[in-house]
Amino acid sequence: MPFLKNTWYVAANAYELDEGMVSRKICNQQIVMYRTSTGEIAALADRCPHRFVPLSMGKRVGDTLACGYHGLRFDSSGACVEAPNDDDSQKARACIKAYPAVERDAVIWLWMGQSELANPDSIPAFTFLSDKEKFGSCQGYSHIKGNYQLIADNLLDLSHVHYLHPHIHEGSDFSAFTNKVKLDGDTVWSMLWRHRYALDEKRQHMMGLPAEVEGQGHSRWDVPGVLLVDTALWEHGKSLEAPGSVETPSAHLLTPETEFTTHYFWASGRTFDIHNEAMSAGTAQMMKAVFETQDGPMVEAQQADMGASTDFLEHHPIILKADAAGVMARRILKRRLKEEARGVGDALVAAE
Ligand code: FES
Ligand SMILES: [Fe+2]
Repeated sequence: MPFLKNTWYVAANAYELDEGMVSRKICNQQIVMYRTSTGEIAALADRCPHRFVPLSMGKRVGDTLACGYHGLRFDSSGACVEAPNDDDSQKARACIKAYPAVERDAVIWLWMGQSELANPDSIPAFTFLSDKEKFGSCQGYSHIKGNYQLIADNLLDLSHVHYLHPHIHEGSDFSAFTNKVKLDGDTVWSMLWRHRYALDEKRQHMMGLPAEVEGQGHSRWDVPGVLLVDTALWEHGKSLEAPGSVETPSAHLLTPETEFTTHYFWASGRTFDIHNEAMSAGTAQMMKAVFETQDGPMVEAQQADMGASTDFLEHHPIILKADAAGVMARRILKRRLKEEARGVGDALVAAE
């Protein structure tokens, strides 16, 4: 299946660019990214047009990137600004592709399609990552050997939590939840409510909640595969808006590296003990372990069985009730791909 081009993909966690350049393959294209002195994000094809070596093997010179082989130098728009051993006519020919990129909510968003259609207003919000007054948070990355849509399926069907992660959430029996799936434009929501739940003592103490709570776990999916899981708990009989309720949203930002491999950028936020750095580090460690030793191996086994195919529905799986949101998301993506192939998507994106 081809990749959607006119959409925002997460290409990096913003902190990765604090240390310099990041070169990463996104949708089969190798891209080098760096932050300029004005804070803009430069994203360029990581391939020198002279001998096709990665520009990321070269070095930053101010806001430009100099190839490490013969010194061709490119600015953040991809224009060649210096050809040390040649004349200006070669310089003009040597320009490389630049991708629109923006930093928002602590991640780098990259537009893979037509630059003139790139509108940062269409980036889904993950405000818990930028609202430092309200949330403590952590971020991380896992590489998964499976198609990115398989991971979106996993996150839109949280009935797996009870079986795959019994130790992290004792109150995750799916049959005890009310589930509602809804569509808002091309955004899919799989909403879960747990009406009564006994919180263990450790969590009561940590979150400042009583023993009897209720809560929600709402998954929001947007193209191409960016998910917010909006989890919250509050005292039984009260509401999310009541003082003392606790929010623990998480972000699951899935970017295809290739058809069969995925960059999984994840993040978690919390409204309690927000300045506790050790707690943030512990949460990150736990999330990484869960994704890399529990969800990851399941998705990788699924991909291995599917072989060279990426369309799960073509394999005629049994569809269960909890699959509704995942199937809906797949249909939207398929429709958007078709529209893009026909040129319809361009008009839709421009109108967004
Ligand atoms: S390979 Fe880049 S300048 Fe020659
Ligand atoms: Fe999971």
